[in-house]
Amino acid sequence: THVVTEACIRCKYTDCVDVCPVDCFREGPNFLTIDPDECIDCAVCIPECPANAIVPEEDVPGNQQHMIKLNAELAKSWPSITKRKPALPDADEWKDKTGKLSELIR
Ligand code: F3S
Repeated sequence: THVVTEACIRCKYTDCVDVCPVDCFREGPNFLTIDPDECIDCAVCIPECPANAIVPEEDVPGNQQHMIKLNAELAKSWPSITKRKPALPDADEWKDKTGKLSELIR
């Protein structure tokens, strides 16, 4: 599967959802997650994300390992998103920030 890392938090650009052939993205208030049961590892979403938030599971950096479980967990309760929508209003300000996990709204 592919994993959405912390870089997405408070940005949610949603460019990723438009290219997903299997509609595997799920939407929360300020973060998107990938449903690992649906993702086919096509990787087309990776270059679409302005925050470089999406990585293949095997390439998830050590400090983002917790996001693997979190994507799977949140995907179970969040609704599907299949169409791009405007990013969060201050997305550009949050794009390059790190350690955003405490900002995640469930
Ligand atoms: Fe998030 Fe990037 Fe998609 S910021 S919503 S993973 S385009």
